[in-house]
Amino acid sequence: MTVARVLILLFSLALLPPPADAGDVGLPKGYWDQPLKPQGRAPQAWSDLEASLDPQSCGACHADKLEEWRGSLHAKAFSPGLIGQLLSFSPQETQDCLNCHAPLAEQAAAFEAARRQGKGHLAASQGLAAAGNSCGGCHVRGHKRFGPPQRGTAATGPSLGESPHGGVTRTADFERPEFCGTCHQFSADQAINGKPLENTVEEWRQSPQAKAGQTCQTCHMPDRKHLWRGIHDPATVEAGLEAKVVTDRDRIRVTLTSRAVGHAFPTYVTPKAILHAVLIDGRGQARPETEATVLIQRRVAFDGTDWRELSDTRLLPGQSAGVEIAWGDATQARVWLEVQPDDFYHVETYSQLLRDLPPKSAARRLIAEADARAAASVYSLFAQVVSRPGLKTGR
Ligand code: HEC
Ligand code: HEC
Ligand code: HEC
Ligand code: HEC
Ligand code: HEC
Repeated sequence: MTVARVLILLFSLALLPPPADAGDVGLPKGYWDQPLKPQGRAPQAWSDLEASLDPQSCGACHADKLEEWRGSLHAKAFSPGLIGQLLSFSPQETQDCLNCHAPLAEQAAAFEAARRQGKGHLAASQGLAAAGNSCGGCHVRGHKRFGPPQRGTAATGPSLGESPHGGVTRTADFERPEFCGTCHQFSADQAINGKPLENTVEEWRQSPQAKAGQTCQTCHMPDRKHLWRGIHDPATVEAGLEAKVVTDRDRIRVTLTSRAVGHAFPTYVTPKAILHAVLIDGRGQARPETEATVLIQRRVAFDGTDWRELSDTRLLPGQSAGVEIAWGDATQARVWLEVQPDDFYHVETYSQLLRDLPPKSAARRLIAEADARAAASVYSLFAQVVSRPGLKTGR
């Protein structure tokens, strides 16, 4: 364990919400030591259904969770953009990526088996790997189930009595941000200009939302729903922000404020958001020369050896960004927030790969698919047409 990791651990211990009750044994030591160990053999008495790590099998009894998870990005983490890169990686390099994208040892084994047959690119051959960040990666170790305090009773510790899959060990550790931090927080020794590329848990720690007791789970798993909606979901982003338009006879000003995002908006370097205001003519056509924009993004570049930060204009909780234009001779303006959730992948990662990968290769086809998805993920929020006040009344 590096010094930085020890420090992070101490930090986390210092900050944890309510102390666990006496029955709460917590997660076993090494629960998140990556790469995860193989589960080993399931108890002989178990049915195939109980022994299976396939989310479909879990869903036979936990249908609601399967349904929610299926639509989430966690379920789609073994994605074309990932596989297109893995195909040219060694198994060791591949494992580094799988730790977060398909964390079970059984998933790495399934992908490597498909790769050896020259079928690594085919979803039908990838077996459990295709399930991405699946049920077992978060809930199953050595075939034992782990979960949060029991709904209703808040009981922790091992469940009693005869239940499928030998019951479950319940612990409040499932409700802590550190549970997510395994994959959503890089260590402090990987900082670029003081901040690692993924710094979500640290950002959360500094936030007023953390002080008010809101965790990652509060916002991203309300009522324990397994949806994990984030920047790819317009409604989630809209709910986190407030846009205000203020106008008088001379100018129009739009201000965007981060109200309910428990970390930087956006937290990663990959999305980009742009606040726009532009005057429009009598036919509703934009007059591009009047457009004012402000970029909300942490921009980084890799120079071949090191990452450098170029700029960071993301909004921390409570912070605002604004644009202003003078009406001039115009009477109407259009304002909106443009969100590009996968900007960095589209502009940097995929465009580079599309230049480098051999034409017609399976990897290139996958990256082209990922790039098309990235381009299609762009959307607008808070779009509206604003009229210049005061003119009609002839004041
Ligand atoms: C044959 C039905 C069945 C299958 C298959 C099954 N479970 Fe369960 N699961 C249960 C039951 C019943 C409980 C309640 C156990 C108890 O209270 O002791 C439970 C409890 C749980 C809990 C704790 C929820 C709570 O009640 O607090 C988790 C987490 C869990 N299962 C995960 C999984 C995962 C992950 C899989 C697939 C790898 C899975 N289960 C497969 C029936 C099943
Ligand atoms: C095993 C690693 C892992 C764990 C643990 C994990 N995540 Fe994720 N998460 C990922 C990966 C990988 C993605 C991206 C999937 C993709 O798009 O390929 C992701 C995506 C997300 C997204 C969607 C982001 C977007 O771009 O819209 C949210 C929200 C999220 N995770 C929240 C959480 C929360 C909250 C927790 C803790 C309860 C958590 N995650 C635990 C690996 C993990
Ligand atoms: C520490 C956890 C972690 C590791 C390790 C990791 N990723 Fe990710 N990755 C994430 C998270 C979280 C996201 C989602 C954040 C976002 O929206 O970009 C993501 C998103 C992606 C995406 C864009 C979404 C998608 O699935 O198409 C690609 C491509 C990707 N990762 C590839 C890789 C590759 C290749 C590696 C190994 C070199 C890797 N990742 C290693 C956590 C990780
Ligand atoms: C990225 C990690 C992650 C993945 C993947 C995941 N879960 Fe969970 N699950 C959690 C967390 C965290 C909680 C507790 C959330 C809370 O307490 O707010 C939880 C809670 C649960 C519960 C208890 C629900 C309740 O109402 O008490 C069940 C059952 C469960 N998960 C089953 C599953 C099944 C089945 C799958 C796959 C279809 C799955 N989980 C995938 C992290 C995960
Ligand atoms: C107060 C509510 C709140 C809390 C607490 C919170 N989030 Fe978010 N999160 C949001 C909102 C709203 C968005 C959409 C806006 C955005 O992308 O920043 C979001 C977006 C995300 C994304 C999408 C990627 C990106 O670049 O923004 C990820 C990943 C994520 N959150 C993970 C986490 C994790 C991990 C934690 C805990 C350390 C957490 N969130 C805590 C509200 C919250």
